[in-house]
Amino acid sequence: MTVASIGARCRLPGWESLKRSAEEAAALIENGMTVGMSGFTRAGEAKAVPLALAERARHDPLSITLMTGASLGNDLDKQLTEAHVLSRRMPFQVDATLRRAINSGEVMFIDQHLSETVELLRNHQLKDMDVAVVEAAAITEEGGIVPTTSVGNSASYAILAKQVIIELNLSAPAELEGLHDIYIPQMRPNRTPIPVVAPDSRIGTPYIPIDPSRIAAIVVTDGRDSPSTVLPPDVDTQRIADHLMAFFAAEVEAGRLSRSLLPLQAGIGTMANAVMTGLANGPFEHLTMYSEVLQDSTFDLFDAGKLDYASGCSITLSEARGEAVWRNLDKYRDRLILRPQELSNHPGIVRRLGVIAVNTALEADIYGNVNSTHVCGTRMMNGIGGSGDFARNAQLAVFITKSLAKGGDVSSLVPFVSHVDHTEHDVDILVTEHGLADLRGLAPRERAPLIIENCADPAYRPALHRYFEAACRRGGHTPHCLEQALGWHQAMERDGHMRTLRDDG
Ligand code: COA
Repeated sequence: MTVASIGARCRLPGWESLKRSAEEAAALIENGMTVGMSGFTRAGEAKAVPLALAERARHDPLSITLMTGASLGNDLDKQLTEAHVLSRRMPFQVDATLRRAINSGEVMFIDQHLSETVELLRNHQLKDMDVAVVEAAAITEEGGIVPTTSVGNSASYAILAKQVIIELNLSAPAELEGLHDIYIPQMRPNRTPIPVVAPDSRIGTPYIPIDPSRIAAIVVTDGRDSPSTVLPPDVDTQRIADHLMAFFAAEVEAGRLSRSLLPLQAGIGTMANAVMTGLANGPFEHLTMYSEVLQDSTFDLFDAGKLDYASGCSITLSEARGEAVWRNLDKYRDRLILRPQELSNHPGIVRRLGVIAVNTALEADIYGNVNSTHVCGTRMMNGIGGSGDFARNAQLAVFITKSLAKGGDVSSLVPFVSHVDHTEHDVDILVTEHGLADLRGLAPRERAPLIIENCADPAYRPALHRYFEAACRRGGHTPHCLEQALGWHQAMERDGHMRTLRDDG
């Protein structure tokens, strides 16, 4: 990794006159403003200004609407929540403190498809943005912003905000320059097709083009991204990966996929990462990714010689993987691209490329509806993220989950999900450690027995079968006993578990 001199990083003539401390820059943010910040899945967030803002709010209270790409690292959402800076937050988060504030009603959280946020902003369907705070690895001669480890929504935020604060991060590898591909779709109704025809299509500029007169401050920083919290594969996630590998092999055998499959998308979290890691030992080769966050598994696949190209909007790595990747970025650079999230998750491009999307469910029901966000239908976990952008438009929409949660106290397969993020119309394949249900071309009455037998934990299967049989006796295309449909969640709310529904319970 080359740490270039500040002059090489900041090439905008006269930039010194814009240099400010984080506190001075944070002072540009006023009570009630809408602020857009860089950052996607703990990668590339502005680090110094949000902290200075939280510090200021502790003695000079203010609250703002905060929009980002996705989750922030370095405990920024925690710090901002504790300082009561956040009145509204969108479009995604993963922080435990913020989650509590969302679920207590203190912070209004707008859970959005990640491809949509900047469309809404651009079309004035959200309040106009006052200030954008964007982390940069470099600033070009014309004032173009070279992002760091994520693009997220930074490009549109910087283009649309009234004022832009740039955090020039000297610890970001200088080799990041050239990795990004910034393309902004034209305004409707005269938008032309977005010319991404393959994961490696380069269609834009390697920097965010903005008018330098809107740069209100440049803050020089050197903080690092926080490492990802993804855990290594365990026995169950390995089994999930094995079921999926066997399914892909059967699809190849049947002639529906080639040995290079189709561009892959993998959601956040331990499970999706484990599935992707499973591909490193599989028979598939010349794989590509058209995904959102690129995790450790992307680089496992590169190193295993299985992956030809990866397109995403952020790179989030564990401590050890991060060390190795950022030190050897040149080894991967020609096979990587980072795009704005509106392009990495673009429904039209996902449909065009025929992406295989692998995302994680909190729970699924016997007909294939998926809840990815709300525990017991009420308490927000993280948000829908990009899972809906991909699942609805993918050639194969796969959802994975362990069949049990909370140490076996909760079945992730239930009669009726308590909140629907992905409808049965969007879900092709459901996988748990017990097996895989291929739902393609099946009617609800055909899906239920398959999901129960292949995916549910054996201890919960009899109760699910009994529910389905009773519902069938009442009739309907998608049979239900409505008064019992959420009974499993009611048991969890009442008793803190679903054990009474287990056959051995
Ligand atoms: N009922 C209640 N809680 C459940 C549950 C269920 N059926 N299933 C899982 N959980 C809880 C777990 O206990 C855990 O809680 P804890 O952190 O308090 O222990 C939490 O959900 C996370 O589950 P885990 O098994 O660790 O899985 P994960 O890290 O892979 O995350 C999701 C799973 C669904 C929360 C996560 O993938 C997510 O937020 N998805 C939605 C967004 C998305 O898909 N983005 C990707 C698009 S690119």
